[in-house]
Amino acid sequence: MNDARKPLEAAARLSLLQRPRRNRKSEWARRLVRENALEVSDLIWPLFLIDGSDRREPVSSMPGVFRYSVDAAVEAIADAAALGVPAVALFPYTDPDLRDEIASAALDPENLVCRACQAIKSAVPGIGIITDVALDPYTSHGHDGLLVGDEIVNDATVAVLARQAVTQARAGADIIAPSDMMDGRVEAIRNALDAEGFENVQIMSYAAKYASAFYGPFRDAIGTSKTLRGDKRTYQMDPANSDEALREVGLDLEQGADMVMVKPGMPYLDIVRRVVDVYRAPTFAYQVSGEYAMITAASQNGWIDGERAMLESLLAFKRAGASGVLTYFALSAARALQGRK
Ligand code: PBG
Repeated sequence: MNDARKPLEAAARLSLLQRPRRNRKSEWARRLVRENALEVSDLIWPLFLIDGSDRREPVSSMPGVFRYSVDAAVEAIADAAALGVPAVALFPYTDPDLRDEIASAALDPENLVCRACQAIKSAVPGIGIITDVALDPYTSHGHDGLLVGDEIVNDATVAVLARQAVTQARAGADIIAPSDMMDGRVEAIRNALDAEGFENVQIMSYAAKYASAFYGPFRDAIGTSKTLRGDKRTYQMDPANSDEALREVGLDLEQGADMVMVKPGMPYLDIVRRVVDVYRAPTFAYQVSGEYAMITAASQNGWIDGERAMLESLLAFKRAGASGVLTYFALSAARALQGRK
């Protein structure tokens, strides 16, 4: 007899009361004990806008992601709504000629984001529109705030952000999402919205947003990677910190945030879990551009199964306690989930 077979024949049966593998013995058994599920309603689709018409311009560092002109965005968003995606988040590529030191275009009621909000609201009224409040798409230096000398000045920036939020709400934004990480901006935005009668416009604050290397492809997409002067470490958080995230989230909730966000996503699942455990508030995670690029690149090289890795990465956010995920995979994930039913 082949010696290698011996253990199979002669092995003594272990006397185990607990055999966790019993609950994994078949697909139906695994489904029965499954703790978390990813659903289409968990997905928020971030998309990039560009001027022009009938335009879908590929973002080279994010294969499968495009910059859409407003008309093309409306079509794509109608598909997202048909798939059951509850909300989209808009990010503009601003014409470099329209960028200046003080982000004037952020307050233009006819800017790309505002035009997109109006068009989406009338064509696809059933989908939620999230707009980003921060100055980086509009500044010549690529920072989220106003630059005086070499300092990003907090309070003057907050005043502009509050006006930017009102401009977006007037255009039809449903959820204002400040991603700038200035101190006190949530309260200022809440007050400004309320003063203009927008008390039903929600705030989803990027509460724990880290100074991350994973934003690289996003900055290509909105055209700030070449212009960004220095880095964002005086306002975005140090990746080494965790307790600080809880303090940031606490402040934003006190100031009126309806929902909070942790960003980036997968490398910060520990933060998502802590925030959920402590605050029990609607908590979203942003699977950012660099995370999308890594999964997509490895998949294109045949190194991982792209669809399985995508769904597993998104399910991980649910397991960490997130209410939902902003992900560039939203449409493919929604399609994969529908195919599964
Ligand atoms: C900036 C902003 C960034 C992202 C969303 N809003 C980038 C940055 O802070 O430089 C990144 C999203 C991504 O990488 O997908 N206000």
